[in-house]
Amino acid sequence: MRTVTTQRRAPLSVSDAPGPEPVRPFLKWAGGKRQLLSQLARFQPAKFGAYCEPFLGSGALFFDLHSRGVLGDRRVVLMDNNADLIGSFLSVRDDVSRVIRSLKRLSDAHQLEPSVCYYRVRDQRFNPARRRLAPNDESTTRRSERYTPALAAMLIYLNHTGFNGLFRLNSSGGFNVPEGRYVNPRICDASNLRAVASALARPGVEVREDRFESVCEWARPGDFLYFDPPYAPTSATSSFTAYTPGGFSVDDQRRLQQIVVELARRGCHVLLSNSTAPEITALYTDNVVARAAGLRAHRVTSRRAINSRGTARGLVDEYLISNISPSSSAE
Ligand SMILES: C[S@@+](CC[C@H](N)C(=O)[O-])C[C@H]1O[C@@H](n2cnc3c(N)ncnc32)[C@H](O)[C@@H]1O
Repeated sequence: MRTVTTQRRAPLSVSDAPGPEPVRPFLKWAGGKRQLLSQLARFQPAKFGAYCEPFLGSGALFFDLHSRGVLGDRRVVLMDNNADLIGSFLSVRDDVSRVIRSLKRLSDAHQLEPSVCYYRVRDQRFNPARRRLAPNDESTTRRSERYTPALAAMLIYLNHTGFNGLFRLNSSGGFNVPEGRYVNPRICDASNLRAVASALARPGVEVREDRFESVCEWARPGDFLYFDPPYAPTSATSSFTAYTPGGFSVDDQRRLQQIVVELARRGCHVLLSNSTAPEITALYTDNVVARAAGLRAHRVTSRRAINSRGTARGLVDEYLISNISPSSSAE
């Protein structure tokens, strides 16, 4: 497995030491949390051990904490079950120069004939190359570990030029997002990609393709875990949850609640974002077990896509659920 591990340390206190160079997410991701960073910062524990994001997506909170110097040399575990997403993180970490070279070539080709280039890359190069990676099988290496810099460059290109930055697969597993409507999209931000690579290559940072449940095997008292799962839909058409085949079911939401409760009882600092759908209210706000574990649901407002096609935006209420008391600003 392409991961880096380090020894555990006692919890460190969070200082305001100047951070490393600022780094932004290199992918646009449905449900990305850049809009919510100031609210999330209110739940940052004063002291914590390891930091973990089990639903990484574009990693908005990880890159924010890294840029603000909050993570220091702590152990960091970044996980997602989307093999393409984790494959592109690993390729950027391990071979950023080749990713940038490929991406510059794609960017040049895109300037000439945007639409032709998009569909040629998607259908004649990206999908065939993805199919050649063997299927996931626990007895062999994971698909993400066989991702190549060329595939990562194509994913970044399609992500920056495709419709709303979506990642969607058809029933045979092919990436089928149509082109987006952008004038002059920024496709290759080489200096940010290099900054991403160095943030991910720091000793102690692990990136891995995994399901969220695996955090229970190693999380320790004092660790800080931020869970940002696909949101429970507030109506039949309100939410996009198909980042990976199978989506995220009501049973997944229930299992996640059990894990969050177990970690809170263990003494971990947990923070979870989700919609205000009735099933989430029932699992946390109205649930005696969750409340006894110290979890409280705080309503916050954020600007989000408010229709299923992501074409209209508006203010939407959502929950931040945590056993950490938020700092006082603007609750
Ligand atoms: C809302 S997005 C996370 C967005 C992220 N916080 C950001 O700022 O971009 C949810 C992520 O959960 C991942 N996911 C869905 N089911 C999962 C599972 N069972 N285990 C781990 N990750 C999963 C999806 O691939 C997706 O990237």
